[in-house]
Amino acid sequence: MRIIRARDYSHMSRQAANIISAQIIMKPDCVLGLATGSSPIGAYRQLIDWHRKGDLDFSQVRSFNLDEYVGLSPSHPQSYAHFMRERLFGHVNIQPQNTHIPDGTAEDGEAECARYDALIRSLGGIDLQLLGLGPNGHIGFNEPGEFFEKGTHRVALSTETIQANKRFFGREEDVPRYAYTMGICDIMQAKRIVMVVSGAQKAEILRRAFFGPVTPLVPASILQLHRHFTLVVDQEAGALLPE
Ligand code: F6R
Repeated sequence: MRIIRARDYSHMSRQAANIISAQIIMKPDCVLGLATGSSPIGAYRQLIDWHRKGDLDFSQVRSFNLDEYVGLSPSHPQSYAHFMRERLFGHVNIQPQNTHIPDGTAEDGEAECARYDALIRSLGGIDLQLLGLGPNGHIGFNEPGEFFEKGTHRVALSTETIQANKRFFGREEDVPRYAYTMGICDIMQAKRIVMVVSGAQKAEILRRAFFGPVTPLVPASILQLHRHFTLVVDQEAGALLPE
């Protein structure tokens, strides 16, 4: 595990964007694993900026998002498909047909999960996976539990995650109760992983995830076992990490 200690959110975002752009430059048709939420927004902004300046070409990039809410169509303003269009895809020259997100409206959830995993495999797996860290240690929507879930699956969101995400929906009742998420196996099979974490509210869970035992009770802790894992933290989030 490599830890990059950034000063603040914008420095953290730039460091993460550097890693992502290096991946795209080294392998223009790379497969990126992408996340939503507050943490990666700054990195996406930086990538858009470099693209606009002509320094970054997404024309051959393929992407898989970690997760999507069950029941939300891609046009729903809180769907992750909508988030990705607003925050990245709509501003760079990635081909829409090369971007993949679980279909929240699929009638057969199991078939949708199997389709998603098969598609990831058929494109050779993920070259670089970007992650955020949930307040309870989740990655994607792999919530704390008794075991590490393997492939893409449907998950009931924990009370903590519903609480954390109600800021986007206004009312708690409107937060979907289920999501599709890539599993721990999908994530761990990525050739490289980079996680961005910022803010004092993540300091304690960050310490438990990376300086505590590897346990499904803190799903992110499994990343300690990944061979090419880079953690990019800002000063506040990293405050409780050992020197
Ligand atoms: C989002 C995702 C989640 C978030 C996590 C942190 O696609 O998979 O695991 O990365 O909940 O969210 P933020 O960045 O909003 O604190």
